[in-house]
Amino acid sequence: MHRLELTDEEVEAVLPLVKEVASRYGSVEEDDFLDSASTYAQELPRRLRLFLNAFRLTEPSGVCVISGYPVDDSKIGKTPTHWRKGPVSSSSMEEEVFLNLCGALLGDVIAWSHQRGGLICQDIVPIEGHQDEMLGTGSERELVWHTEDARYPYRGDYIGLMCLRNLDAVPTTFASIDEIQLDPDQVDVLFEPHFVFHPDPSHPTDSEGETAPVLFGDPRSPYVRFDPYSMDRPETEKARSAIDNLIRAIDANLRSVTLLPGQCLFIDNYKAVHGRSSFKARFDGTDRWLKRINITRDLRKSRGVRQAPASRVIL
Ligand SMILES: [Fe+2]
Repeated sequence: MHRLELTDEEVEAVLPLVKEVASRYGSVEEDDFLDSASTYAQELPRRLRLFLNAFRLTEPSGVCVISGYPVDDSKIGKTPTHWRKGPVSSSSMEEEVFLNLCGALLGDVIAWSHQRGGLICQDIVPIEGHQDEMLGTGSERELVWHTEDARYPYRGDYIGLMCLRNLDAVPTTFASIDEIQLDPDQVDVLFEPHFVFHPDPSHPTDSEGETAPVLFGDPRSPYVRFDPYSMDRPETEKARSAIDNLIRAIDANLRSVTLLPGQCLFIDNYKAVHGRSSFKARFDGTDRWLKRINITRDLRKSRGVRQAPASRVIL
């Protein structure tokens, strides 16, 4: 896995930057912040910028982890009980700024208008009553591995997660397509548009499916788009066999990372699938708490469904 541990000197450079940027805005949801994030990101330590640029450009790994950002557990307060944000400035605004500045080195953040109120930087917390849901807000049901927003051509290129609290050591699961051995004949089948993708449960207002290949790009090092939980069973035996083998191979290669407070995990949504193990939530303010952003390398490809060139919300 591609990893970077911030040095003490780098942390000393990051903290005043993050504090100063956070002081300029009421929230990372503000357009002015989002428009300037990539500029502020150029003030992050050069080694961190080189690291994320290499992750973006050379695709060394399906995921990467940045460690060393110090999270003050008492300052961030209790784990929220819901993803809805209050009107006042977030107690974790500085952590949100850090995650967003790192993300700005990979691309531009995006959100979906029908998902979590169109929020850009989302709190991933268990919600009481959602324990058995196949959603980021669930807990007692495993979040089965998937490509994020697999149904959608405008899905993000990367998902950024920052851990604020994980007392129960809940693992985030992932598998990189480059670590999976596949039969060349089955790769050929997976490159053909035999597969029907439906909106996953995080897009409850959509219903229309899209037919597309599961693998694309370079057959020797393909990109992947796969969410068997929200796909039709293919009509032909060869297509069924190809996806069943891919499911088995991903299951066999599924790895996990247990994020610690301050760690940021970036998942390449073209090179890796991801999920989350089940856990028992307490709903007492001490549960697992992550921040999440979605990042696209090319805002223009969704211009037809956004209000303005710099708008981040897909309608
Ligand atoms: Fe996901």
